[in-house]
Amino acid sequence: MTGKIYPVSEAWSSSAYIDENKYRALYEQSVSDPEGFWGEQAARIDWIKPFTKVKNTSYDPHNVSIKWYEDGSLNVAANCIDRHLETRGDQVAIIWEGDEPNLDLKVTYRELHDRVCRFANVLKKHGVKKGDRVTIYLPMIPEAAYAMLACARIGAIHSVVFGGFSPDSLASRIVDCDSSVVITADEGVRGGRKVPLKANADKALEKCPSVERVLVVKRTNGTVGWTPGRDYWLAEEMESVSADCPPEEINAEDPLFILYTSGSTGQPKGVLHTSGGYLVYASLTHQYIFDYKDGDIYWCTADVGWVTGHSYILYGPLANGATTVMFEGVPNYPTAARFWDVIDKHQVNTFYTAPTAIRALMGAGDELVKKTSRKSLKLLGSVGEPINPEAWEWYYHVVGEERCPIVDTWWQTETGGILISALPGAIALKPGSATLPFFGVKPALVTPDGQPIEGAGEGNLVITDSWPGQMRSVYKDHTRFVQTYFSAYPGTYFTGDGCRRDEDGYYWITGRVDDVINVAGHRMGTAEVESALVAHSKVAEAACVGYPHSLKGQGIYVYVTLMEGIEPTEALRTELRNWVRQEIGPIATPDLIQFAPGLPKTRSGKIMRRILRKIAEDDFSNLGDTSTLAEPGVVSDLIENRMNKA
Ligand code: WTA
Repeated sequence: MTGKIYPVSEAWSSSAYIDENKYRALYEQSVSDPEGFWGEQAARIDWIKPFTKVKNTSYDPHNVSIKWYEDGSLNVAANCIDRHLETRGDQVAIIWEGDEPNLDLKVTYRELHDRVCRFANVLKKHGVKKGDRVTIYLPMIPEAAYAMLACARIGAIHSVVFGGFSPDSLASRIVDCDSSVVITADEGVRGGRKVPLKANADKALEKCPSVERVLVVKRTNGTVGWTPGRDYWLAEEMESVSADCPPEEINAEDPLFILYTSGSTGQPKGVLHTSGGYLVYASLTHQYIFDYKDGDIYWCTADVGWVTGHSYILYGPLANGATTVMFEGVPNYPTAARFWDVIDKHQVNTFYTAPTAIRALMGAGDELVKKTSRKSLKLLGSVGEPINPEAWEWYYHVVGEERCPIVDTWWQTETGGILISALPGAIALKPGSATLPFFGVKPALVTPDGQPIEGAGEGNLVITDSWPGQMRSVYKDHTRFVQTYFSAYPGTYFTGDGCRRDEDGYYWITGRVDDVINVAGHRMGTAEVESALVAHSKVAEAACVGYPHSLKGQGIYVYVTLMEGIEPTEALRTELRNWVRQEIGPIATPDLIQFAPGLPKTRSGKIMRRILRKIAEDDFSNLGDTSTLAEPGVVSDLIENRMNKA
């Protein structure tokens, strides 16, 4: 199957930084001489002390160790702000678009410098030192960017927790990294609705004795609880400190941030990223993949609570002196034309969003798109999950009017930046394919038992050598890091994704092959949903799987066995749905709940997820061998009462 191909236009190949010949040549150099390639590329950022060593990495399962530029030092915030002041102090760094269409704010690089320096001094005033962890639980407001950069400026490690997470999820993340300071807001606003962030934080903090200070941004002026001596209004603190805060000298391998993400087992893990390699990688990928040119207005619709927000709203764009848009709201408020209206309002040139949003807006009809101009658009991007060809074609023809290439960017929280993507001036597009690897990235496919697959074929996606943006460890748990990523196929980094490679060497990500589900572009561990459910007093056992969902990509399907004597009712279904929402957050809400008198298990008691997945997919023609089940009878009951009947 070759499918459709959209060749690179003449205009793009002649104007872009990278055309096809350059891509081939540079890619070749980057993988045959990584030291040389990454040594040169590192000159794009300012070093305080130059490095002498470029790469020192080992994927040996007995000694996984990843270091880039290890004897160099820099300051990430100075690279994102200070070094631009002379040439672009008055250029807008951040365009903030509020939830309400009449609310926006432009922050120049000079203003950003002032805010970040003050914020950094506020952190210092409250005892934050280099290496300390600071938890950020904020809506999409400029203060989130200031907070992250203020941490980077003084060498504190930020852990941003998505504002949609519950008090419990927030608490476990604060405790895991032992933060002494939390930054939050009175309330967030999304789609016209208020989110009680401070109240959530207060609830979380009942379980977090380590937290000494809470800095609160006033967003709505809503009434909030207050603990004197612990809680401080950020605005007052900002006024009380000086605007002078020289950047700390930070070693390239000192941590920049921790970001919690779901894995196939247990609770979310703290993905640890460091400073030098991460910044080189975020800035290089941002420049080439989005072909970012001076003066472009660039908009990534992600939330800073996810890695996309870290690398491609904040660090990559600001390191490149870009103008980056930060959007507080949602795609369908006040109408499903909001994205297109904002593109016109701010004359956005590059627009980067997720397939789930594209599918939802496609469903709202072409009229809403067509009534806007979108003439400013040059390039479109997609991230977070595989994009189905129908959505791709709509994005390309209707939104981009066949004028804008689409870069479908595959990557992960763990990879720090994009690993597989088209370059708009170099690589012909195939709808649904992330296309080819970025510089320095060596993907490979293996069979489930680890045999290499050459040429066209399908298997598990691994990466055979390190790149500078790669995560360095799981915070405080290097053993888990090694087990999760370097043990399945020794000598490689295992991505957890399945993938097909076609005759042209193009990569087609097929989705997760582990127990992670991707709901509307958000990662969710089935184990997390299960442990939330079994914490409910009426639930004896629970199993969670993903199933195909027309808007979200994957939906959450759970099988629940109730405690002896409990009646399975509609009311209980609602109760359990709300329970999971409350325990984890709205993104974890089960779409379908099936009450199951029993779950299919092996004789050793292991739940057979393969069977549960098939039933949830409404595809039980071939359930494979069920003879090893302890009680083969449970399967027919599950099939009969399945929730996803066509
Ligand atoms: C999936 C988000 C197909 C994939 C940056 C990966 C994608 C997981 C794509 C990481 C894409 C992300 N095509 N699948 N363009 N981008 N994924 O950590 O399964 O939130 O492993 O990082 O999302 O999700 P994460």
